[in-house]
Amino acid sequence: MTVTAHRGEIFTLKDDPALGPDAIVHHLDGLLIIEDGRITDCGDFSALSPQLATDQHVTHHENGLIVPGFVDAHVHFPQMGMIASPGRQLMEWLRDYTFPAELDFADPDHCQAAAPLFLDALLAHGTTSALVFGTVHSQSVEALFEAALALDMRLIAGKVLMDRDAPAGLLESAADGYAASKKLIERWHHVGRLGYAVTPRFAPTCSDESLASAGRLLAEHRDILMQTHLAENLSECAHVAALFPDARDYLDVYARHGLLGDRSVFAHGIHLDDDAIKRLAEARSAVAFCPTSNLFLGSGLMRYEAMRKAGVPLGLGTDIGAGTSLSLLDTMAEAYKVAHLGGVVIGAYEAFYHATLGGARALHIDQAVGSLQPGREADFLVLDYAATPIMAQRMARAQSLEERLFILMMLGDDRAVRHVYLAGNPAPRLYARALS
Ligand code: GUN
Ligand code: ZN
Repeated sequence: MTVTAHRGEIFTLKDDPALGPDAIVHHLDGLLIIEDGRITDCGDFSALSPQLATDQHVTHHENGLIVPGFVDAHVHFPQMGMIASPGRQLMEWLRDYTFPAELDFADPDHCQAAAPLFLDALLAHGTTSALVFGTVHSQSVEALFEAALALDMRLIAGKVLMDRDAPAGLLESAADGYAASKKLIERWHHVGRLGYAVTPRFAPTCSDESLASAGRLLAEHRDILMQTHLAENLSECAHVAALFPDARDYLDVYARHGLLGDRSVFAHGIHLDDDAIKRLAEARSAVAFCPTSNLFLGSGLMRYEAMRKAGVPLGLGTDIGAGTSLSLLDTMAEAYKVAHLGGVVIGAYEAFYHATLGGARALHIDQAVGSLQPGREADFLVLDYAATPIMAQRMARAQSLEERLFILMMLGDDRAVRHVYLAGNPAPRLYARALS
């Protein structure tokens, strides 16, 4: 049995902080005890330290904050190399930048080189779990799963399904997509901490037959997820209305194929009316709110307050490469601004909820990660209150944990991630840390 212990200020959530202060767990001088990769205790140092063996080493993290690892609810592995491609809205951005970059993933060597760099970049930004799009090529997801297994990450991914309206090298028949997905599920789902998500790209590139095969996969494998895009851009929505004239609305295109359920994660969900938001909530489908992407592509402002009021489970997504940062701290800051434009304020506890336990709930991995409660896998971060001079100055005036969290989310990014632990072990740094 391996025991490790970490002392420092600890913040985690037991529940949605909108339900009340009982959801908040805070230890100013805390102790996190880990046995064989799982948290066994989390509490005040003074209360817990007597139970440690006298020779137990305790790692002391000063002027920092121990929090659960971040959960990225929507990100594209093959798009890291084309982030910051300017001047287009969604459909033209896909055609001019995204599809050309994804064609490179036909080459298994390209996939194998890209996968560890992508995971290392996630970790450098404090993201320990994610729901990830590959490309249409099975080898993209194979490479990603292999690399994630070697790191022992809790990661969910899927190969993209698309059978129309893209370059030929990114298309396959619905039957081939079904067979390739099934093979990946059998090979990788529940291996280590990995999971599979059926991944129809979005309605414009998926025929009814392709969406039906995604629905079949979801029905045949009761604990896999489904991820896709929904109502991101007005031109896209008009295109979908023309392609599926019989559907009630965009959401109904997916619902008619069994894709509106409690294991579905829809990215964006910007241009939705109250009725569609109600149907999402009733189905317990989650939405990945991707504010940096939505602002970068000029897609629009997600109706944050309407989603929260309806009770739609929300995660935060970076949506690289349409998003402009892999940092969930940056993403929280942009979520705050988008909601503010919509007339509401996201509190710091609430923002951290979306980036940790809320995201884990959206991905159905909250029994494993997303909080630091005993029994959970020990994926956690040490955030640095003084990562930059401006943060250090501002922190000196902070009066409360909530204010310090707000400063972290507004001013922090990967520089504020001092340490990352996966199942209790320091995450190896391949590339990002080599730069520092
Ligand atoms: N809709 C369909 N594909 C994509 C994609 O790759 N990125 C974004 N942001 N939206 C999409
Ligand atoms: Zn996306």
